[in-house]
This record gives sequence, C-alpha cells and structure tokens, in this order.
Amino acid sequence: MANSAQPIALPNPFAAGCAWIDGKYVPIGEASVPILDTGFVRSDLTYDVASVWEGRFFRLDDHLERFFTGCERLRLIPPLTKAEIRSIMVETVSRSGLREAYVEVIVTRGVPGPGQRDPRLYQPRLYVYAIPYVWIVKPELQARGTDVFVTQNTHRIPSSSVDPTVKNFHWGDFIRGMFEAYDRDAWVPILPDQNGMVTEGPGFNVFAMVDDVLYTPVRGVLEGITRRTAIEIAKDLGIKVAVGEVPVEDLYRSTEIFLTSTAGGVMPVATLDGKPVGNGNPGPVTTKIRDRYWELHSDPNYSHEVDYT
Ligand SMILES: Cc1ncc(COP(=O)(O)O)c(C=O)c1O
Repeated sequence: MANSAQPIALPNPFAAGCAWIDGKYVPIGEASVPILDTGFVRSDLTYDVASVWEGRFFRLDDHLERFFTGCERLRLIPPLTKAEIRSIMVETVSRSGLREAYVEVIVTRGVPGPGQRDPRLYQPRLYVYAIPYVWIVKPELQARGTDVFVTQNTHRIPSSSVDPTVKNFHWGDFIRGMFEAYDRDAWVPILPDQNGMVTEGPGFNVFAMVDDVLYTPVRGVLEGITRRTAIEIAKDLGIKVAVGEVPVEDLYRSTEIFLTSTAGGVMPVATLDGKPVGNGNPGPVTTKIRDRYWELHSDPNYSHEVDYT
C-alpha cells in the first residue's frame, strides 16, 4: 500500500525574526549581546535600519552607504565588506520569510580584553537582524494624523558632542522628550536645539509647509533616507523645498507638518501642542508625498526583490 502520509510543514524558527551574530543565523529570541560589548555599555557604535515592503528592499544601497560613512566618521572598521553585510541583511529577511520587515545592522567597537581601555585596540563586532516592520505612527493613526509636542525642557544633544549625521543610540534626550510628550497627551516629541531651531524627534525627520514652501532642518539631524526621498518627490511634484534653519515659531504657523522615517514612512501631523495644524487633517502636500512614497516601493529604481527561496 502506498504511503499516504503528507509531509508535515515544520514552523519556521525565524518567523518572528532572524539575527546574524558571530557568523550564525539565529532566531531573534535567541540573539544576545556579550555584556562587555562597548556598544551596550558605552553606546560606542553606529547602526542603520532599512525596510522591506511587499517583499522588496527599499533603497538598501543608500542605507549601506550612509552606514559606512558613519563607521568612517567614528573610526570604526566593520569586520566585513559592504557586499558581505548586504548579503547577510538580505539573508536574514529571506530566512524569516517576512514580506514587511525592519532590518537593522549594527557595528560596535567590540569587547575590550581584560584591563583594556583603549578603543583603538578592540575588534569591532557586527550584528544584523530582521524583525516585522515597525511603525513609529501606526497606519490607523496616520490616517487622521498624529499628535506632536515641541519639548520645552529637553533640547537635542548638541552636534558638537554627538554627531547626529552618524546614526547612534545616544537616545537620552529623545526618551526624556517622549515622556514630556506623553505628559502632554501627545504621541511624539519634536526637539529644538539650544537656539530654538527645529531638529528632529526619536527616529524621524520633520517637514513643515510654511508660506507654500516645504521646509526641513538642514543641521542637527540625521540625513534620513526617507527625508531624501520626500525631498526628491516634492521637487518632482513642483513643490518648493527649502533645506535650512527652521525656527520653532515657524512650526506654529505651518499649514502642514509631517514626519519621515524608515519606520513608518511619511507620517502626517494633526496637532501641535494640542492645537490643530492647518485644518487638523492630513494636508494635500503631505498626502501626495505620502502616496508617492509608497508607490516607489515597487519601483525598481528604488527597490529590489528579496529572493525567499
Ligand atoms: C534620529 C533620527 N532621525 C531621523 C531618522 C529617519 O531616518 P530614515 O529616514 O533614514 O529612517 C531616524 C531613523 O531612525 C533617526 O533615528
């Protein structure tokens, strides 16, 4: 008699996420960091986050370019080449099977040897992981716009102390700002610098429409890949864009505000410090840029397919 047993489909151990550590792929729940890693105890690292949407990586090479520039600015030498890191990032997604993913790569200064204190002597360590896509503002909330608060008691850490163009984990100011925002019933904070200029918020850049010009801060910010995409789209749409100093007062007279991040895309703002921005709904410029942003995720000039086989 023929064996009629069907093969049993085993659950994918990487379904909740896949990490690459010390040359091995491990399920995300089993991934851990050595306690003496200076990335953990000193924030001595840089990182980047790319995304996968509908099975396609978005601007992966631009993320890797920024990541390698950041490493150079910190005098960190990644232990693998750009091409090797790129293929590990793709492999973590492929193993996880995730069609929508948040893919992080980190290089830390490494683990000091016994009694060592000279960071030039450590061996940098690489970590990569892919987990389900993360939203700073959930799509339901994006549909009506989020609530933002400009912090009064927290300034962005000065660029002369921590270079914001190098993606970093020095989030003390952001976390403090988040609590300030929660205390005001807002969802996210925007942090000014010490001179009253807009900088950015925890994980996103800021855009504001003032007098029919789309402004975004030039200094004191990470040069976001989503920011770059939004600027390109706006210019394509014939919208005037100004990358310059943005005084906080300008936010209060803007007709539209939106936030940009790999973790959430182009996110409309409904209220600022409890008052409506424009008419309190996502504005026409924001909506056009947001729609186009998501369309570009299937454009081969901006994205490429992940091989899941
Ligand atoms: C501080 C900060 N600003 C801006 C951004 C947005 O950058 P991107 O659009 O490249 O995700 C991030 C992303 O995590 C960030 O951490």
